[in-house]
Amino acid sequence: MNKLEELRIYAKNNFIPILQEQTEQILIKTLIDVNPKNILEIGTAIGYSGTIIIQNSNAHLTTIELDEDRFNFAKDTFKTFNVTSNITQILGDANEIIVKLQEKFDFIFLDGPKGQYLKQLPVLYNLLTDNGVLFADNIYYHGWVNNNEYPKHKHRTAILRLRKFIEESKKLFKQCNFLDDGDGIMIAKK
Ligand SMILES: C[S@@+](CC[C@H](N)C(=O)[O-])C[C@H]1O[C@@H](n2cnc3c(N)ncnc32)[C@H](O)[C@@H]1O
Repeated sequence: MNKLEELRIYAKNNFIPILQEQTEQILIKTLIDVNPKNILEIGTAIGYSGTIIIQNSNAHLTTIELDEDRFNFAKDTFKTFNVTSNITQILGDANEIIVKLQEKFDFIFLDGPKGQYLKQLPVLYNLLTDNGVLFADNIYYHGWVNNNEYPKHKHRTAILRLRKFIEESKKLFKQCNFLDDGDGIMIAKK
């Protein structure tokens, strides 16, 4: 087993959500197609997707994580995979950090809290270069977002916000592709 597979198993055993294998393949394919130079990730977790991003692009990655233990774990992950020099890690609440970012990004991997996607959308849109790509994971949230029912359970707010996030994205972006793979993926082009 290679080290990335070990990391995936560690995440599973410790209930740390990382991108699904199908999503990983689509992310890699999209990175190869788009060939971005400056990437922003919301939700570092333990550095699994960040490592995948650097290994499959020629880009610099800025990645934001709220949880300090995960931030530190990711630091070790990036050292292990020898990708540290291509990554800027930021510890803190993405909502507070993204409004202060000065640079533009040609690719954003949105994978933080699903209930915040809608709020973050206009800020992320402004951070994207023309033709920049927003790759958002988990947009169907266990299939609850696209089943047309009014959600009655505790995830109601997140689901309603994700539906609105999809509607707003369709209005904002010149091109929006939705994939059923994994937990639902949106690939949108500015
Ligand atoms: C789905 S996980 C990210 C998985 C990672 N992208 C991967 O595939 O390897 C979402 C992460 O977002 C973090 N998070 C939650 N709220 C956040 C916030 N407000 N700002 C930044 N990160 C946050 C969580 O601690 C969690 O580690």
